[in-house]
Amino acid sequence: MIAQDTVQQILETAKIEDVVGDYVNLKRRGVNMIGLCPFHNEKTPSFTVSPTKNIFKCFGCGKGGNPVQFLMEHENCSFPEALRTLAAKYGIKIEEKELTPEERKKQQHKDSLYIVNEYAQKFYANQLFNTPLGKSIGRGYFKERGYNDAIIEKFGLGYAPEGKDAFTQTAVQKGYSIELLRSLGLTTKYDSDFFRGRVMFTIHNLSGKPIAFAGRILQKNVKAPKYINSPETEIYVKNKVLYGAYFAKQAIRKQDECILVEGYTDVISLHQAGLENVVASSGTSLTVGQIQLIKRYTPNIKILYDGDPAGIKAALRGLDLVLEQDMNVRVVLLPEGEDPDSQVKKLGSTAFEEYITEHAQDFILFKTNLLIEEAANDPIKKAGLVKDIVASIAKVPDPIKRAFYVKECANLMDLEESILISEANRVVAGNVKRANIKRNRPQERPASPLRPETGEAAPTTSPSKPQKKQNSTGDEFQEKDIIRIIITAGDVVFDEEEDISVAEYVLSNIEDVLDNFDNALYQEVAKEAFQRLVNKQRLDLNYFLMHDNPKIKQLALNVTTSPYDYSPGWDKKEIYLRSQKMPELNFTDDSVQSLMRFKYRKLIRMCEDNQKRLKEIKDPDEMMTLLQVQQQLIDMRNTLAAEFKTVVIK
Ligand code: UTP
Ligand code: MN
Repeated sequence: MIAQDTVQQILETAKIEDVVGDYVNLKRRGVNMIGLCPFHNEKTPSFTVSPTKNIFKCFGCGKGGNPVQFLMEHENCSFPEALRTLAAKYGIKIEEKELTPEERKKQQHKDSLYIVNEYAQKFYANQLFNTPLGKSIGRGYFKERGYNDAIIEKFGLGYAPEGKDAFTQTAVQKGYSIELLRSLGLTTKYDSDFFRGRVMFTIHNLSGKPIAFAGRILQKNVKAPKYINSPETEIYVKNKVLYGAYFAKQAIRKQDECILVEGYTDVISLHQAGLENVVASSGTSLTVGQIQLIKRYTPNIKILYDGDPAGIKAALRGLDLVLEQDMNVRVVLLPEGEDPDSQVKKLGSTAFEEYITEHAQDFILFKTNLLIEEAANDPIKKAGLVKDIVASIAKVPDPIKRAFYVKECANLMDLEESILISEANRVVAGNVKRANIKRNRPQERPASPLRPETGEAAPTTSPSKPQKKQNSTGDEFQEKDIIRIIITAGDVVFDEEEDISVAEYVLSNIEDVLDNFDNALYQEVAKEAFQRLVNKQRLDLNYFLMHDNPKIKQLALNVTTSPYDYSPGWDKKEIYLRSQKMPELNFTDDSVQSLMRFKYRKLIRMCEDNQKRLKEIKDPDEMMTLLQVQQQLIDMRNTLAAEFKTVVIK
């Protein structure tokens, strides 16, 4: 474990603009810096970095934090991993803290597994580059496949010699324990080498450590399997590993898409061709663990299949699993007889990219088309087909997407939409019921329904009862912003002609969502302020600074003393150009913008709540009503987004 002093030193040394700057192109904007958020898709920057506060914050997706948190989020790594990365970056020496004996034993064992694998990887690489047979057979093979030295080294390729135990002997001589060699599967129980006369592929974990190997046979037409793999160990859990993920993760996030192929060689060839957002499932069908790994980086997945009938069949199998994870799945069929490796060599990278872009098809529509062809004019087959398609559609958690598929597929199958709707609803209801039984907990009270005519929240909650929300959805930041304005500028004149104050303006605009705060304290302040306005009582900074409730007093102090550091991403240019006033003095713009952001977040929340509710609905009519409400909410959200000139994708 890293000693507390070291942790402190790292936290004090790491500069947010340096750390973020390694990944995001930042531009100065006043005291802050802004850029395109790496955590969500956006075209207008709302990602803000504050060097003075040493934090980042995105106004689009709500993510924020210090340099360590940025790395954890961006690299999907643990706290200690982030600390180690930063220590390396700033040349800070890490002092380790004592572990408990068990912790130490476990960690030491894992570490030694990595160390042995690292040794093995070097051994195989050395064989490949520096021995006559390795050079002629192994390297010759990779050369023939078109791999350059850089890619061979990057992916840790190697060559395992023919001999019975050349590797094991050398490793033991170097002091590596035979038990460890055995438990990693590098050495058999008869003490001979497991990998013999094969070219070697190293499998890395997300931090780039070697966790396993695959060896490819070189002879053709022999009975032995083409690839043999390391067994599962503490450091290699097959169904959670994707080949190439370490080298691809950055590109996957950047391009917001993951390309999935079948083989090791496909991954390597595509990387060499410059397509780096590529990983392989390594011949097995996709597992939930693998999908979730991808989902940490992007919801968009493009699966490349060899264009043979077996490949097509494989395309259909297992993919419902991906749909269940709410991923957007597209499939690309390569021409018959080609795999990604051969195809990219044939076309070159540009034409290859064009090919996969052009030929990518939505999975469900692809499946529908394929089955339609299969069923042709056979009514019995067609009935089965409807069931099959509906089963896939029902796996899609997002009701909007589901509605879209119902429509498209009904069209493709030349069916009445209503038939497909009721069929899909039946299956969805079944799924939901099963899920509920599995969870074995009382059904949650559905989110407050919306009036479809106005899109406004129906008053279902009593104002006196502050609601406790278990899950913060990232609205607190906007809530705090609203509270900041009420506290610091509540009594400032908002509009002279109308004779209203900032507090009156803000509060009258959020009256309908006063019950929907995430943060109980902010809610309390907002409600109290509202009540005071109604009672025509004084409402200014001093009132809050001398509040009876110490928490509110502290809050007032905090929002006053912290400068307006998160200068909003939206629309800021105009503010800076038009007035050089400090934002604190620019209450009108400030409150309008905060208000819009606040409402925007609340609308997003209402969409989510409505969506949750949709999942629990069984009655098709009610479902359709809610779908319409959902559409309305989305429209409102988009209108608002357009108002503050933010592009909302989806
Ligand atoms: P392929 O047979 O398509 O192999 O299997 P490949 O990767 O394209 O290799 P080349 O081009 O013939 O050299 C696809 C994947 O299935 C797994 C491997 O992960 C392979 O990359 N596989 C295949 C095995 O694990 N064992 C096997 O015997 C065959
Ligand atoms: Mn191949």
